[in-house]
Amino acid sequence: MAYLMGIDVGTSGTKTLLINDNGDVVASAMSEYPMYTPRPLWAEQDPEDWWRAAILTIRQVLQQSGIDPSEIAGIGLTGQMHGLVMLDADGEVLRPCILWNDQRTAAQCDWIMNTVGRERFLDLTLNRALPGFTAPKIVWMRDNEPELYAKAAKVLLPKDYLRYRLTGVYATEVSDASGTVLLDVQNRRWSEEVLSALEIPTEWMPECVESIVITGTVTPQVAEATGLKAGTPVVGGGGDQAASAVGTGVVEPGLVSVTMGTSGVVFAYTDSPSRDPEGRLHTFCHAVPDKWHVMGVTLSAGGSFRWFRDTLGASERAVAHLSHVDPYVILTSEAQQAPAGSEGLLFLPYLTGERTPYADPDARGAFVGLTLRHDKRHMVRSVLEGVAYSLRDCVELFRDLNVPIQQVRAVGGGARSDVWRQIMADVFGTEMVTINVTDSTAYGAALLAGVGSNVYGSVPEACQASIRITDRIEPIAANQSIYNEYYPVYRTLYHALEPAFSSISATDQGNA
Ligand code: XUL
Repeated sequence: MAYLMGIDVGTSGTKTLLINDNGDVVASAMSEYPMYTPRPLWAEQDPEDWWRAAILTIRQVLQQSGIDPSEIAGIGLTGQMHGLVMLDADGEVLRPCILWNDQRTAAQCDWIMNTVGRERFLDLTLNRALPGFTAPKIVWMRDNEPELYAKAAKVLLPKDYLRYRLTGVYATEVSDASGTVLLDVQNRRWSEEVLSALEIPTEWMPECVESIVITGTVTPQVAEATGLKAGTPVVGGGGDQAASAVGTGVVEPGLVSVTMGTSGVVFAYTDSPSRDPEGRLHTFCHAVPDKWHVMGVTLSAGGSFRWFRDTLGASERAVAHLSHVDPYVILTSEAQQAPAGSEGLLFLPYLTGERTPYADPDARGAFVGLTLRHDKRHMVRSVLEGVAYSLRDCVELFRDLNVPIQQVRAVGGGARSDVWRQIMADVFGTEMVTINVTDSTAYGAALLAGVGSNVYGSVPEACQASIRITDRIEPIAANQSIYNEYYPVYRTLYHALEPAFSSISATDQGNA
């Protein structure tokens, strides 16, 4: 029997998963590490922590499974996208990685868009420069850390740093490379024009391949440290969203996924690159060779619900503790006691600013429409509904681009709630299904390794062999029509409040 390994360099920790060629998870391990915020809105991690976590979890997975490491046909890498790992000419890390959720580069984004020209930049990269993306971070380093920048020789993304340590090879693949905004996404290669306009040397960029291509093999030293067999192939893998889409089976037209973690990501497969003319959606290469995807991100999805639990859910947490249930179960049953539409109470989930469709770090959360009639049941329901409206903003952008949406697959922690899945089905007006895979990101990376090492003939074949639908929810017509009335109201609220959000943010920064 062949085994496949997926390693996910996440933001909270690294997860390693071993599956067999039937798609069954044989072993899994997770090791956490810190995220540093040296200043407000900054977010950094030490790449050495990722490496330590990878070694530990690989060893744990090998031990748990008891398999012979020579039976591992391939390893697939995935991880948090957009992070900047800058190395010197000796391959040493120059500074902590600047992460995807770091907001320090607003000025560099403006400079990039002006230097290349807004339209030209959109034509070449199919995206706009956003503060979380990699290119503005490189420019930030040049502007703010010139001594370190003078020593720079290689740019890597988080999972590709792991590849470098595992195999000694500098390489990336097209899905993660798309999130640097230095890739010509249409032609799936680095954009010489963007690199030269931004004065970033092309030699700094790693070789960029399709996600199923073998990029290198495990070195003898790493074999010694981990227990893996030297020579085990390591495939390109994918950025966490593309890998998760593979692990969710979103590899053909009509399929869409909603990943409900701290952030909420709506992801649709496309046969050719579909681009929102204003660059509000991300258009990136898929981990399926020669295919693409569009994606929108609500920054505080599960994060909004967690905020509600932690700040307003003290009594539910106490009851949950005493009765040994999850506080979210109590909160969602309260939400069920309020009617669809929360009797006119609307929640804006912009607790950490927003990415899609507004790309506004100053946006704030809000409850709008409170009356004496409303109580906590309405408030918690409106939080679940507000997140669903915000995700519908992404779904509507897909519809504007004629991206087919036949089935939405829900994954991630928030997708475990039947109540929230029903709200999403009603707000989107689509069937909402769940699947048998839980860690879809590491799982998708393992499937990509399976294709690269010829265990499967193609990515869709790998998905068909392993992914099954476990539950289906259809929209409830009466609720759908209530949400169709409130959704246009929800859409007006950001625009109405945007001037207030900017003033609050300016005042806040002035007082900091
Ligand atoms: C995708 C994105 C996140 C990060 C961290 O654009 O920013 O998914 O990759 O998970």
